[in-house]
Amino acid sequence: MSDAAAPQAITLERTDAVATIRIDRPKAMNALDADTLRALARAVRDVRRDADVRAVVVTGTGPKAFSAGADIAAMAAMSPGDGHAYSQLGHEVFNRLEALDVPVVAAVNGAALGGGLELALACDFIVAAEHARLGLPETSLGLIPGFGGTQRLALRVGLAQARQLVYLGRVIEAAEALRIGLVDRVMPGDTLAEAAGSLARELAGRAPVALAQAKRLTRAAAHAAMAPALAHEVDAFAATFASDDRIEGLRAFLEKRAPAWKGR
Ligand code: CAA
Repeated sequence: MSDAAAPQAITLERTDAVATIRIDRPKAMNALDADTLRALARAVRDVRRDADVRAVVVTGTGPKAFSAGADIAAMAAMSPGDGHAYSQLGHEVFNRLEALDVPVVAAVNGAALGGGLELALACDFIVAAEHARLGLPETSLGLIPGFGGTQRLALRVGLAQARQLVYLGRVIEAAEALRIGLVDRVMPGDTLAEAAGSLARELAGRAPVALAQAKRLTRAAAHAAMAPALAHEVDAFAATFASDDRIEGLRAFLEKRAPAWKGR
C-alpha cells in the first residue's frame, strides 16, 4: 500500500482483505498530536483507494494504550485559535474514518482516553482488552471532548451514561464498558488481536455493495441526530482554551498534581 504513512506514528498494513491501521507512539501512550492525526488521515485515504480492502482494524502499539487522546503537552502551548484548528483537524480525520464504505473495528488494546476513545467511537465496532480502561477525562483537564466525543458517546450509550462519563470524567473498566454498551466485546489481552481480526474477516466476507449501503444508512441515521452539535463542539472546545482552568488543568497533569480551579 502507500508508503506515505510509513515513517509516521501511524502504520498501515494489509493481510488479504483486512487493513490494519496502528497508532505507533507507545512512549507517549499513542497520543494523537497533529502530525499523528495527519498521518492517520493519509492512512484512511490509502484504505479508501485500495479496492482490495474490505474491512479495517484500528489499534495501538503496546499493551498500555490504544490512545491516551489529544497530546496534552502540545495543547498546553496552544492558543484558542490553535485549539480550534486542532479540534477541527480531529473532526475531519475521524469523520473520514467513519465515512469509509468498509466496516472498521477498533481493537482497544489498552487505555482509550479522551481523543483515544473518540477515535474508537468513530469506528463501527469496539472490541476491548480486559485490562483496557475507557473514558473521556477532559473535564479533569479544564477541557471538553473535542474530537466528536460529546455526540458520538451519547449516541452510543445514551444521555444518562454519557453525562456520567463526560461531566465527571469517569474512567471505567472494560467490563463496565461492556455492561453499558460502550464496547461490543471484551477479550483477554493476548487474544484481542485475533478476536478483532476474526470479526474483521467475517465482515470482509459479507457482500461489499450491500455492506457499504448498510453502513451509509446507519451513519446517515446517526448524523441526522448529531451533525449540527458536532460542528458546535469545535467552537466549544476552542472556548475552553480561553479559560484559566484549561491552562491550570493541563499544567497540573504535566506537573503530576491536582488542579486548583478558578472557574474562569
Ligand atoms: N498526551 C501527551 N502525553 C501523554 C498523554 C497525552 N494524552 N498521556 C500520557 N502521556 C505521557 C505522560 O506525560 C508520560 O510522559 P513522561 O514519561 O514524559 O512523564 C508518559 O506518557 C507516560 O504516562 P504516565 O506516566 O501517566 O503513564 P501511566 O501508565 O501511569 O498512565 C495513562 C497512563 C492512564 C494513559 C495516563 O498517562 C493518562 O491518564 N493520560 C492522560 C489521558 C487523558 O487525560 N486524555 C485526554 C486528553 S485531552 C483530549 O483528548 C481532548 C480531546 O478530546 C481532543
